[in-house]
Amino acid sequence: MTRERIDLLVRNAGELVTVAGGSARPRRGREMAEIGLIQDGAVAVKDGRILAVGKTAEVMDRVKVDENTTVIDAAGKVVLPGLVDPHTHVVFAGSREYELEMKIGGVGYLEILARGGGILDTVRATRAAGREELIATGLKYLGQMLVQGTTTAEAKSGYGLTLADEVKTLEVIRELAQRQPVDLVPTFLGAHAIPPEYKDDPEGYVDLVVDEMLPAVAREGLAEFCDVFCEEGVFSVEQTRRILARARDLGLKLKLHADEIVSLGGAELAAELGATSADHLVQVSEEGIRRLSGSRTVAVLLPATTFCLMGSKYAPAREMIEQGVAVALASDFNPGSSPVNSLQIVMGIACRQLKMKPAEVITAVTINAAHAIGRAAEVGSLEPGKKADLVIFDAPTYRYLMYRFGTNLVQTVVKSGRIVVGG
Ligand code: NIG
Ligand code: FE
Repeated sequence: MTRERIDLLVRNAGELVTVAGGSARPRRGREMAEIGLIQDGAVAVKDGRILAVGKTAEVMDRVKVDENTTVIDAAGKVVLPGLVDPHTHVVFAGSREYELEMKIGGVGYLEILARGGGILDTVRATRAAGREELIATGLKYLGQMLVQGTTTAEAKSGYGLTLADEVKTLEVIRELAQRQPVDLVPTFLGAHAIPPEYKDDPEGYVDLVVDEMLPAVAREGLAEFCDVFCEEGVFSVEQTRRILARARDLGLKLKLHADEIVSLGGAELAAELGATSADHLVQVSEEGIRRLSGSRTVAVLLPATTFCLMGSKYAPAREMIEQGVAVALASDFNPGSSPVNSLQIVMGIACRQLKMKPAEVITAVTINAAHAIGRAAEVGSLEPGKKADLVIFDAPTYRYLMYRFGTNLVQTVVKSGRIVVGG
């Protein structure tokens, strides 16, 4: 057999975590702890794709390293697939640090929104912002995510809430996808809040989303997913069903902000509509968990949000995993409820507050996260044929990634076979 010449080789990894074997369907139950750990592992890369994965000696036998091959020695380090963040609101203007005192004083998230603040404050700032400003802040935030190990992320609109401002946001996301290494999956979230001009006519706003925004977004191919903030005082289950049914008819895939603050039946609706993911789920009902476990919908949990909202109750992750729900984790990065764009922080909180085991957490930020945004055939595991997205962490074991908290342990990030962080 002739050896193939390669562009990049990562070898001698103390722990190479492949998460292989889960591309066809998300992992659930006990499978969530299967992470395909290889000691003294190697990954060979050619033309931006993974060519071979295995023990260093086996991989070295199969490939040809020449003077043009970049070789990285990962002895004593942990290598993971590039992290996937399946729920972010990365395009927005301004910031809302003044909410901290309100939250400390006990003012609730929905109360701030009902007073015209919260999301609506960011809507005012985002409407006023030009494209260049939104691109500049987006590049800054995505750069922060990349150096912390995120190589693929979902990105939502939702701070425009007019046809023009939603289109502007989605066009900014398209531009951002071309201007930096993190792969972006665009989501239309026109139903994020009722804008002030429709305060007394919420149905009129739902009409606008259904009759004008969605057809325009679908026609221009600006988004792959449609999401709705299904919540008490925001969009009802009926309004959410109407919006998502229309989105599905127009060829978009579906997501929901479900059962975050009030248990409305968002999880049940997600399963009913065949949504790709149901996100938040802090207040999911027993029935909701049952429906999700019998569906292909991935539960995307956002524990940094509960932490930042100073909530006492976290999503019932253990119960979901034990009942066979496919669980993923995301940052929910946004200017209000989760100004956190580090998946490493999310991983640390997930162990401590969701009581997820380190191996389950790895699955939740790699292959299951990829399933939650329809990218499992391309990313989320280290397997031949997939994009060569990987992260080398300065950590002796994969558990150390969750054990340490608040320090960026990333040493090197490889995106599509190219070193984009570190060396
Ligand atoms: O997922 N819940 C609704 N949307 C975001 C928060 C957005 C904001 O507060 O600006 C979330 O938490
Ligand atoms: Fe969100």
